[in-house]
Amino acid sequence: MANEIKGRKLNLLIKSPEIKQKVHDLGKQITNDYQNKNLLIIGILKGSFIFLADLIRSIDINTEIDFIRISSYKNEMTPGNVELITDLGVPIKDRDVLLVEDLLDNGGTLNFIREKILSNQPASFKTCVLLNKKKTRQFDIRIDYIGFQIDDKFVVGYGTDFAEEGRNLPDIYVVE
Ligand code: IMP
Ligand code: MG
Repeated sequence: MANEIKGRKLNLLIKSPEIKQKVHDLGKQITNDYQNKNLLIIGILKGSFIFLADLIRSIDINTEIDFIRISSYKNEMTPGNVELITDLGVPIKDRDVLLVEDLLDNGGTLNFIREKILSNQPASFKTCVLLNKKKTRQFDIRIDYIGFQIDDKFVVGYGTDFAEEGRNLPDIYVVE
């Protein structure tokens, strides 16, 4: 697989088998917590699509899936404004909503979507992120399920991108 993108070197951070194990563990936890619930999993596109695809196959209860598409990183490594590109297709009132995101950086994206979902009165609301960057945030965001705590560096792979490239990498890398 590629070891650089747009001339930037990639350093291996988390290998595929380790991701697989973690995703499996998260799926088991979610299965236990949502027994007899009306679970609706909402993935944030595009970054969460691979994580979500693996995660739901480790969840052993009936669940419905939907997506919301937003854009926050306009290009490369600079954050932009959060913009809604495609809204949800199902009503969320009285549903047990689990929001799934690839990565929590400053929290603006999750905060934006959380507000939007809560205003539609779900029965419950929880969040799941694969990667949580260790940093101080302007938004106080509680994450219920976290895959890995990582340093505040730009990462790519397993669905996350660097200027729209690298989503297909099976491992997760730091972009140097
Ligand atoms: P936040 O709104 O600052 O939390 O940014 C989160 C969004 O930006 C996520 O949806 C990620 O897809 C993207 N993002 C943040 N940090 C990175 C990174 O290191 N690599 C790739 N995407 C990132
Ligand atoms: Mg994203």
